[in-house]
Amino acid sequence: MQIEELNDTNCKTYLLTVGDEAALVDPVRERLDTYRLLIGRRGLKLKLVLETHTHADHLMLNRAAKELLGATVVMHRESPSPLVDRHVDDGEVLTLGGERIEVIHTPGHTPDSVSYRVPGAVLTGDTLMIGGSGRTDFPGADAGQQYDAVHNRLFKLPDDTVVWPGHDYRGGKSSTIGGEKRGNPRYARSRAEYIALMGSLGLPFPTKIQEALQVNQSGFEAEEVTFPLVADVAAMPQVSPEQLAAEQRGAAPPVLLDVREPEEFVGELGHIRGALHVPLDVLARRLPKLAGYLGREVVVICRSGARSASAGAILRHAGFDHVRNLAGGMLEWNTRRLPTEH
Ligand SMILES: [Fe+2]
Repeated sequence: MQIEELNDTNCKTYLLTVGDEAALVDPVRERLDTYRLLIGRRGLKLKLVLETHTHADHLMLNRAAKELLGATVVMHRESPSPLVDRHVDDGEVLTLGGERIEVIHTPGHTPDSVSYRVPGAVLTGDTLMIGGSGRTDFPGADAGQQYDAVHNRLFKLPDDTVVWPGHDYRGGKSSTIGGEKRGNPRYARSRAEYIALMGSLGLPFPTKIQEALQVNQSGFEAEEVTFPLVADVAAMPQVSPEQLAAEQRGAAPPVLLDVREPEEFVGELGHIRGALHVPLDVLARRLPKLAGYLGREVVVICRSGARSASAGAILRHAGFDHVRNLAGGMLEWNTRRLPTEH
């Protein structure tokens, strides 16, 4: 398998090729024409788009770009976007030209962060970078999980495995597992020291987060949905699946508002009995029709809890004072085997 970095910037996209079959890892939307030209010129068949996680610093593929590429979009099962064709979990194996691509779930930077292990190498996204690691201060991030993923999973790979990171801010290209085990100053710390360090970095939010994160989570464009401020989304109160199930059995059950796409509402995860269905892209327009619920307890619901947090912030902004987000969305609801309808 050949691995090439295509962007030559801080933000890395890789082209994997085996024979005439190709995969793109973490494509950046604004560079799509360049990728397509390259793939066309070499006569490659683009089979897969592999995302290492939901990105906050660049726009991922939208519906139109996905159609143009015609490849299967692969992301972890906890990824919020409705544009994913194949959700994968730890240990799953994809193939490209007959060669293996193994999924390693490496959460921490985001809940849906994965590394892709290919023959002789591993694409580590923002989990393990050359002498560094991806930040863990966005909603859903967890420094302890990231430390465990690196020490218990990535550092167990053979020392000569080549590491291809999602970013490098010092012009670096690649590293090795052995090199990172010996020389990565962040992961050389104890787990407690690592968590303390990551909590004290005080990094500014990336300039693109407001335009990129919620767009990437939702599959919609900023023109289709007016997204709330990321800080307001991060401040959404959460309700656990168990707590919500208990409240549903109580005297004054909350109003349930499911903001997923129509095909998801009736898809494999199902929906909760009695949930109102208002997809995120029409929520703002439907607010007048929801005015009757203004004083009520409202719980917003989606696949993983990311899009619904945006929806909740939109509702709060519109005067709904008692909005909570279903933590982990329908994925968690299903994991706890709570009842669903299809
Ligand atoms: Fe990232």
